[in-house]
Amino acid sequence: MEKQRSSFTGKLGFVLAAAGSAVGLGNIWRFPYLAAKYGGGIFLLVYIILAVTFGFTLMMAEIAIGRKTGLSPVGAFAKLNKKFAFIGYLGAIIPMLILPYYSVIGGWVMKYLAMFISGNGADTTWSETIVNGDTTQTVTYFDKFVSGTGEPILWFVLCIAITMVVVLFGVEKGIEKVSKVMMPVLIVLSLFIAIYVMFLDGAWEGVVYYIKPDFSKFSIMTVISAMGQLFYSMSLAMGIMITYGSYMKKDVNIEKAVHQIEIFDTGVAFLAGLMIIPAVFVFGGEGDLAAGPSLMFKTLPKVFNTIWGGQVIGALFFILVLLAALTSSISLAETVVSVIQDKFKIDRKITCLIVLAGCLVLGLPSALGYGLLGGVKIIGLQFLDFFDFLSNSILMPIVAIFTCIFIGFILKPKAIHEEVEISAPFKAKKLFNVIIKYIAPVFLVAILVSSILDVFGIFKI
Ligand code: PHE
Repeated sequence: MEKQRSSFTGKLGFVLAAAGSAVGLGNIWRFPYLAAKYGGGIFLLVYIILAVTFGFTLMMAEIAIGRKTGLSPVGAFAKLNKKFAFIGYLGAIIPMLILPYYSVIGGWVMKYLAMFISGNGADTTWSETIVNGDTTQTVTYFDKFVSGTGEPILWFVLCIAITMVVVLFGVEKGIEKVSKVMMPVLIVLSLFIAIYVMFLDGAWEGVVYYIKPDFSKFSIMTVISAMGQLFYSMSLAMGIMITYGSYMKKDVNIEKAVHQIEIFDTGVAFLAGLMIIPAVFVFGGEGDLAAGPSLMFKTLPKVFNTIWGGQVIGALFFILVLLAALTSSISLAETVVSVIQDKFKIDRKITCLIVLAGCLVLGLPSALGYGLLGGVKIIGLQFLDFFDFLSNSILMPIVAIFTCIFIGFILKPKAIHEEVEISAPFKAKKLFNVIIKYIAPVFLVAILVSSILDVFGIFKI
């Protein structure tokens, strides 16, 4: 007899776990940077509009597919239509690519947290300028750390190991339990740090810069980059929401749950902007808002070093980031484990070991990409950036496009309506139909084209 599929115990467990997946590193460093770059308030507005239309539609579709089939992406698409099973396979590759490098970054966060907790936060602001003839080169603490060998590997292994232990405990005893503790703590920390920063002297200027619409920075790229961020941030088009949907009970109102996840995700992103932009504005300048590791690991420690109580705030901040990263990496790992289990019907323990081993192998090049393997580049990108580019800029839009076309024209939206209506009336049915069939595919193609042009330097986002 087949074992019954595990499930989240109720709506709260599902919403917190899915929100845990959505709220991640992307909310904390990427969102504030994009908002600052693309016109503050106007970016926020565009983002919110896209979240309640596109984000809503895609998330509804994925969760409903998961719940309808009771399977993770590979099995789910195959069950709906054999010819379209390839979408499931494509979708399942994405978390396999993201999990290893996401854990490498999670490891960096752990290292910084350890530094701040042990009272050595100030050390992370160290930098040295080396003059060599007429070229000068600045080496920071972060550069030194990531170019090492032992430490980046150690922290990466720790991060992936914690993730896999939670996944090993299963949906209810692992993921749901952990999310129910981590997510509320995350919200409290976000609010506390954001409020603290807003009361710093001179921070108000930064708040205004963040919230006031600057129409001169608005262009079609505002919309495209908001859309790209939205997909990543809501963990869409990579089978995660299908997998989590497959663990959802039939009596949970999907539409309401999706709205709650959106509020969580956008709310934390907004708060992250409130903590980061004013702080950086006061203690650095607009130029310091650069995206990526440099903001979180170079600029912010300097801010923490300057403000009153900065050691504690720094430690709290890195706890927050770590919680966000872990709940996301757990969702990635669960999806990979679930795909393998559904496909090969093997024991969860063995599957977790296989995934752990695979992750270690795939993650090592990313962990060493700034040191030992620093010379190796793929299409001009370091390993970590390459995996990021391949998964987020290429595969995700492709999977999303196929998903929309499949649901819109092959499966037909009615199948989704029926699943949603098992638990409650589907209020935004018309909006869903129009977006999934016509609007989303067009926008997704625009995202795909612009990110390909961007990486080859033809066109800068
Ligand atoms: N949604 C997460 C974030 O905002 C990123 C993520 C992507 C998590 C893919 C899991 C899977 O950072």
